[in-house]
Amino acid sequence: MTDTTAAGSKDTEAHLKKRRCAEAAVRYVEPGSVLGVGTGSTVGYFIEALAARPGLIRAAVSSSEASSRLLSAAGIQILDLNEVAGLHLYIDGADEATRARHLIKGGGGALTREKIVASAAQRFVCIIDDSKLVETLGAFPLPVEVIPMARSLVSRAIEARGGQPVWRRGTVTDNGNHILDVHGLSITDPRALERELGEITGVVTVGLFAARPADLLLVGTATGTETI
Ligand code: A5P
Repeated sequence: MTDTTAAGSKDTEAHLKKRRCAEAAVRYVEPGSVLGVGTGSTVGYFIEALAARPGLIRAAVSSSEASSRLLSAAGIQILDLNEVAGLHLYIDGADEATRARHLIKGGGGALTREKIVASAAQRFVCIIDDSKLVETLGAFPLPVEVIPMARSLVSRAIEARGGQPVWRRGTVTDNGNHILDVHGLSITDPRALERELGEITGVVTVGLFAARPADLLLVGTATGTETI
């Protein structure tokens, strides 16, 4: 059934923009390479684009079980990161991004493996629709992956720093951990906050990508793709 409501058409428009930037990312892929692949609906469109070009890449290193399933269904071989010396390129989405290419990631809960694969790559191309481009990060609650037994301990430490952590109940990450979504932050110094929260005992990964930002942002708009 076609959704003809205003919300429905907005949703369709967002997905069109996601598809646009995902398609644009294909041109950065080196033929025959092993590619790092992120997680989320925008990456889903990117995997569709790869599926339409059989043999373009030799294999992929995936950032989540969900993406591994999509890649396998597309006939793409998956390698463990330990099997490769490094990656030429990592393609992934984000939940928020600034023009300095600092990101909030982890809306889909895959932030730890995403950060690992991103850090293994020479180049990180981030694909987003233009609704995610912001002046200051933080309107999107910042995901923080924590060791389950430390959840309350970490929550109190984050509250002491002015954030309002909310436990993402029912979510267990691919690594067996929990996620806190931290509300109420206006992140003016993403690098400092990434470092500060990362130092709290029990924190596995902070969903800020500032120490290792994206190298390129491809932003899907109503008319095309903006490159930042
Ligand atoms: C996954 O953990 C996230 O980091 C995603 O990159 C992010 O949530 C973007 O998702 P969509 O492409 O579905 O908007």
